[in-house]
Amino acid sequence: MQGKTVVITGATSGIGQVAAESLAAMGARIVQVARSRERGDAAMKRLRDIAPTVAHSIHYADLSRISEMKRVASEIAAAEARVDVLINNAGAMFSSRQVTADGLERTFALNHLSYFVLTQGLKERLIASAPARVVNTASDAHEPAKLDFDDLQSEKVYARKSIGQWFRYGGPGFYVYGRSKLCNILFTRELARQLAGTGVTANSLHPGFVATRFGDETGGLMSFSIGIAKRFALSPQQGAETLIFLASSPDVARITGEYFHKCRPATPSKEALNDANAQRLWLETAKLVGLPN
Ligand SMILES: NC(=O)c1ccc[n+]([C@@H]2O[C@H](COP(=O)([O-])OP(=O)(O)OC[C@H]3O[C@@H](n4cnc5c(N)ncnc54)[C@H](OP(=O)(O)O)[C@@H]3O)[C@@H](O)[C@H]2O)c1
Repeated sequence: MQGKTVVITGATSGIGQVAAESLAAMGARIVQVARSRERGDAAMKRLRDIAPTVAHSIHYADLSRISEMKRVASEIAAAEARVDVLINNAGAMFSSRQVTADGLERTFALNHLSYFVLTQGLKERLIASAPARVVNTASDAHEPAKLDFDDLQSEKVYARKSIGQWFRYGGPGFYVYGRSKLCNILFTRELARQLAGTGVTANSLHPGFVATRFGDETGGLMSFSIGIAKRFALSPQQGAETLIFLASSPDVARITGEYFHKCRPATPSKEALNDANAQRLWLETAKLVGLPN
């Protein structure tokens, strides 16, 4: 990774933090996007301790707001002549339906739209730096989810007062999270298709169930249940393995459009393999964020 520039979101904590630090230890220069000055400063200090002579950098943005996603993408594109690896990793789950100031459901905005906007904003830099890679953190939580193009903001999901929903999916918040992770896989597959022949690969991954700060922000009973389950979860070091592998290993230099788990290609749900939905999601997303498709 010597001489490579890695742009990463969600590196102030959890698997993103471990990945950024491991890639920095391999020689990469890290450009991170964070929302909290305090955690961002602490993350930068750790990176400088690992590689004191490398000019790691940081940009601040709330990645659930479209204007912030766009601003930070253009700031990075202006500052960086090359981007060798883009890791879209920032994400969260919310137990109740929250709406951003853009009028969008917050899980969808943060977990899906930020991946799209950042990637589109840095696409030219990635292509100019080819061979380059995009790595998107998804989850096996996508498995029960289905896309509903009439309800991308999940109003109907939260309005459904079904006890069966709790038994089948662990509640609307978990289902909506799973749907955003389904979007990650569909987005990755469509991105890989569009980037074919450019030398830029795109892959997604499931990190496993990992004891990070994930779930702390979720709220309600879900935060409590996740807190208990985390006692049996993987460590952030174990959870980051596939992320680091996809960002750095020569073994996957030419592999694109795949979904990985445990550093091996895995088969996602049937919904995640629906190419027509992937293309439609791309078009709907571009429209929602106001970018050309
Ligand atoms: N943990 C698991 O079991 C698990 C399983 C499958 C997939 N995942 C996925 O793995 C990824 C990383 O999660 P993690 O487990 O490492 O959790 P984490 O420790 O909570 O880390 C989440 C990261 O995302 C950042 N973030 C959250 N909201 C943001 C916002 N509005 N704007 C900018 N940054 C924001 C956080 O920043 P702050 O430091 O400011 O909070 C943090 O750096 C997520 O995409 C998650 O869906 C996790």
